[in-house]
Amino acid sequence: MNIIKVKDYEALSEVAANIIIEAVKSKPEISLGLATGGSPVQLYANLVKDHKENKTSYAGVSTYNLDEYIGLDPSHEQSYNTFMKNNLFNHVDINLANVHLPNGNTSDHEAEAKRFEELVANTTIDLQLLGIGTNGHIGFNEPGSSFDGKTAVVDLVQETIESNARYFEGNEDLVPTQAISMGVGTIMRAKAILLIASGKNKAEAIKWLVEGEVSEDLPASALRNHPNVTIVLDEDAASLLQ
Ligand code: F6R
Repeated sequence: MNIIKVKDYEALSEVAANIIIEAVKSKPEISLGLATGGSPVQLYANLVKDHKENKTSYAGVSTYNLDEYIGLDPSHEQSYNTFMKNNLFNHVDINLANVHLPNGNTSDHEAEAKRFEELVANTTIDLQLLGIGTNGHIGFNEPGSSFDGKTAVVDLVQETIESNARYFEGNEDLVPTQAISMGVGTIMRAKAILLIASGKNKAEAIKWLVEGEVSEDLPASALRNHPNVTIVLDEDAASLLQ
C-alpha cells in the first residue's frame, strides 16, 4: 500500500483529485468507481475547478458508484444519485448515459443489486475511489461482510445511521436502514484503489487498516490483499499510525 500523509482535508482533496485528473488524462476512456459522503466533496470540487480551468474532459469517462440508499428515489435530495449530480456530474462534460449507480427505488431490490453487479462485472474499473467508515466499512459493507461479497442489499448498522443522520436534518429516523452496495469482492476487482480519510474519527479504522489484522471484522482490511492501493490521509486520520 502506498500511503500519502498530508496536513489537512484541503491538501488531501488536492492530492487525491490530482491522482484522478492524471488518470483521466492518461486514459480518457477510463472507468472510474466513485464514492459519496463527506470525504470526497472537496475532491470533486477540485475536479470541477480543473475541468473549468484546464479543460480536462470527462466526455469518454464511465463511472460506477459504490452504493445507493434503498427507499430513496434517484431524484431525492439525499440520494447518492443527486449527490453525484450536485457535486460532479452536472459540472463536467460527462455523458450521463455513462454514469451508473444502483437504483434504490425499484420494485425488486435484489434484482437491482444483481443487475448492478453484472454491469460492474462486465467492465474493468480502472480506479476505484473509496472513503472509509469509522467502523472500517467500505461501500456499505459493514463489519462481518464477506471479502468475496458481490453487490447486494445490505443493512446499515446503527453507527453508520448515526453518522449519516447529519445529512437528514440530524434525525436518525429519516436515514434509510438499507442500501444496495458493491460487495468487498466487487470492489477488490478494481485495477487500482484510492482511499481517502480525514479526521480524528477515522484514526482507529485507519490504524487497523494499515497495521492491524486482515479480518472481515474490518472490511477495509481486505485492501491489504490488493496489489495497487493508494491511501491519502490527513494528519488527524493518520494520528494513531506508528
Ligand atoms: C459512500 C460510501 C461510504 C463512505 C463512508 C465514509 O459512497 O460508500 O463507505 O465512504 O461512510 O463517509 P464520509 O466520507 O461521509 O465520512
